[in-house]
Amino acid sequence: MSVAAPLLEVEDLHVAYGQVEAVRGVSLRVDEGQIVTLIGPNGAGKTSILSALAGLVKPRAGRVRLGGVDVTGLPAHRTVAAGLVLVPEGRAILGRMTIEENLRLAGERRQAAGALAVAIEEQYRRFPVLGERRRQLAGSLSGGQQQMLAFARALLSRPRVLLLDEPSMGLSPILVQQIFETIREIHRGGTTILLVEQNARLALSVSSFGYVIEHGRLALQGAAAELAIDARVQAAYLGG
Ligand SMILES: Nc1ncnc2c1ncn2[C@@H]1O[C@H](COP(=O)(O)OP(=O)(O)OP(=O)(O)O)[C@@H](O)[C@H]1O
Ligand SMILES: [Mg+2]
Repeated sequence: MSVAAPLLEVEDLHVAYGQVEAVRGVSLRVDEGQIVTLIGPNGAGKTSILSALAGLVKPRAGRVRLGGVDVTGLPAHRTVAAGLVLVPEGRAILGRMTIEENLRLAGERRQAAGALAVAIEEQYRRFPVLGERRRQLAGSLSGGQQQMLAFARALLSRPRVLLLDEPSMGLSPILVQQIFETIREIHRGGTTILLVEQNARLALSVSSFGYVIEHGRLALQGAAAELAIDARVQAAYLGG
């Protein structure tokens, strides 16, 4: 019997912007069906890791495998097609287009019109508020609703691994709870998730495994439940 290969495997990833070495040799894995979280301070390199996985920046070195297939350095449209789909920091909603237009624009390059319409209806069932307001401008949605639109847009591509960058950023405490409930629901629906979050406590509470990134490197890794009671994690990230 062989041990199952990880769904997503990152090996010795390096990302640099000119002279700035943002990620300096990070290795991590995400198994099918897991939520895995990356926590760490501002500027640690978390967004850079997700950007490299999503094909938005080319890694300087390292390997990324999805389902055993090498996807290192592929451009974004190909990583999306392969199943790595990013919900970016700040959501990148097109505020002057309607909710429906945001969804159609995201899906139309990859799906035939009929299939896309079915996929959009599926997202309206998942997020009824988006269906009710489909003809309104996306900019009129609240922050929490815009985050749902960003989730729906990503889910249209049927990700094998959904990459979430700071989904709770800028939201009130109640909306943060709602967004995490939504993340749990998406996960229960069968989607594997790699989550970057400032709210380490909540992130660890929904995850099975966690990595702590500091200065572009892995500082610590472990089962989420163990990280949550680790004295170093508590002191640095859980206000304990
Ligand atoms: N486009 C860029 N050009 C130059 N430097 C960048 C760029 N993007 C990020 N950096 C730098 O790379 C490092 C890592 O940034 P990154 O955004 O990946 O961190 P982060 O962990 O996501 O931080 P935050 O918690 O603030 O979102 C930082 O020093 C940052 O200033
Ligand atoms: Mg970031």
